[in-house]
Amino acid sequence: MKRILITLSALGVALCALAAEPAPYAQITNIGARTTYSLNGGWRTLVDLYEEGAYNYRGLPKPLKQTFFVDKRFFDDETKLVEYDFDVAPLLQVPGDWNTQRADLYRYEGTVWYRTLFERPKQPGKRYFVYFGAANYASVAGLNGTILGKHVGGFTPFNYEITGLLREGSNSLVVKVDNRRHVQDVPTTTYDWWNYGGLTRDVLIVETPETFIRDYCIRLAKPVAPADARAAKKEAALQKKQGEVIEGWIQLDGPQASQTVTVAIPELQASAQVVTDEKGFARFSFRAKVARWSPENPKLYEVKLSTQTDEMTDRVGFRIIEARGNELWLNGKKIFCRGICIHEEKPLGGGGRSCTEEDARTLLGWVKELNGNFVRLAHYPHNETMIRTAEEMGIMVWSEIPVYWHIDWNNPDTYANAVNQLTENITRDRNRANIIIWSVANETPLVPGRLEFLTGLIDKAHELDPSRLVSAAMEKEYIDKQTVTCNDPLAEKVDLMSFNQYIGWYDGDADKCDRVNWTFAVKKPVFISEFGGGALAGRHGDKYQRFTEENQEYLYQKAVGMLSRIEGLAGTTPWILKDFRSPKRFLTGIQDDYNRKGLVSETGQKKKAFGVMQNWYAQLKEQYEGR
Ligand code: GCU
Repeated sequence: MKRILITLSALGVALCALAAEPAPYAQITNIGARTTYSLNGGWRTLVDLYEEGAYNYRGLPKPLKQTFFVDKRFFDDETKLVEYDFDVAPLLQVPGDWNTQRADLYRYEGTVWYRTLFERPKQPGKRYFVYFGAANYASVAGLNGTILGKHVGGFTPFNYEITGLLREGSNSLVVKVDNRRHVQDVPTTTYDWWNYGGLTRDVLIVETPETFIRDYCIRLAKPVAPADARAAKKEAALQKKQGEVIEGWIQLDGPQASQTVTVAIPELQASAQVVTDEKGFARFSFRAKVARWSPENPKLYEVKLSTQTDEMTDRVGFRIIEARGNELWLNGKKIFCRGICIHEEKPLGGGGRSCTEEDARTLLGWVKELNGNFVRLAHYPHNETMIRTAEEMGIMVWSEIPVYWHIDWNNPDTYANAVNQLTENITRDRNRANIIIWSVANETPLVPGRLEFLTGLIDKAHELDPSRLVSAAMEKEYIDKQTVTCNDPLAEKVDLMSFNQYIGWYDGDADKCDRVNWTFAVKKPVFISEFGGGALAGRHGDKYQRFTEENQEYLYQKAVGMLSRIEGLAGTTPWILKDFRSPKRFLTGIQDDYNRKGLVSETGQKKKAFGVMQNWYAQLKEQYEGR
């Protein structure tokens, strides 16, 4: 076996160990349109509770050649003491969390080393990247004994260029994944969902031309109010003849940065041709007679992007989302978001992360059964398949980063982490028409540093994507015994005033809903981003008895009555579609590590409250779409 050559640079990297690994390569978007080689399947794994694979007995970083990144099969003499061997180590399936794959890892929080072997792709003149859909929570990747980089954040994609590191024959990819929680992380040390660790989404080798389309944006231009009647008449004539303005930009990556680029919608015989600058960037705009994307008509167009060295397609919807006063407007019509919250867990089979289309269709099928047209994907970016499946099914999305509860507000590294997760989320999904809201936080206390932290994220979201609304699940307070308002200073900054409320569960009983009213000083669309209560499917009793289906049903009946009285209510997403695992739920025999606020149980059993939302949303559907 050829001894691996440890370069001085790699050694240098090793000396600063795993603390300051290089960052991932610039994010590549629309991976699904690329030539890829899947690395999904069984990976050999080492559960490294004491960090033996990276640190010595004094807790100091080991030189790279002594770490688990150097896969034993690269050593050439059996006399060398090596106390690990991936070739005979236990397997874990990728994608997937380790908690639900092995009973000994159910509550494990620490490092697991993953190793897979793959043959080098054979195309000369191509570039190669290794792409991770997500790794929770922090990961360091190495290929053939060279560190590729470190990524932090458990729910967004990242990739590393490996073109120059690929070897003929077998290549050894080793990934150190660590799901331990830390105060300075995003999310911080406590949250109401299971800390599923591992390579939880697809791992792929991505093949690109030497100069390729790395990123792009394409959308319907927000209509500009005409200066006068003459301008309005001119625009109307143009729209009639050529359609509406499609705008965007394209970013190439590679040595031939300046190229002629064509962006086309073949179905509409519409296109633009531009030349990218010396950095590979160009903006474009052209007119096309697009049918707007909407829940009732989720029209997607094939968009073709081509350059002299690359071409790719995407399926894109075109729509306009706006907040007008305290109303939400989609494509010039007032809408109501008939939604529900969802955690990213398998719909059936006892929890665990899932990123399959089948599971997405099951979950989103339940949303459709509710007469829903919207989902709040809590509390972190879900997998891309979920977003694209929802887009195809005509389901709008609230997309959120896990700035959840009491974050380390005054820590610059924490803020940089949150900005990075927001950026990776928007970069991946900016061309998905069904995402209408970027959310920067959930239930964060009004403490020093929090407003500045969140205002920065809101500004960043607007900067990265001026075409969507920005919000957060904000704070509210009683101004007297029967009146609640949103007292959150963020209300001035967001486009949508959203908050979670649990009157009838954490706050009084269901009858309290009849006594409480809501008032708002800020005139913006109001969104109830959570409400509800728990029930164990199949547990029946008096409507005031906690955790019975009757209690949950009664609570929903009363809550719907109260919410219907809110002026400017533009949407609701009750908490939550399906019971989900959480280490904060101890009630043996009822919760058993599950948060039971789902309208559907973890075995797919619909509870009585499901029917309450189904009926209310049927009425709202008739009211808003029956016209
Ligand atoms: C909060 C929080 C959720 C949590 C829910 C609950 O509103 O946002 O993540 O699961 O309450 O207590 O069930």
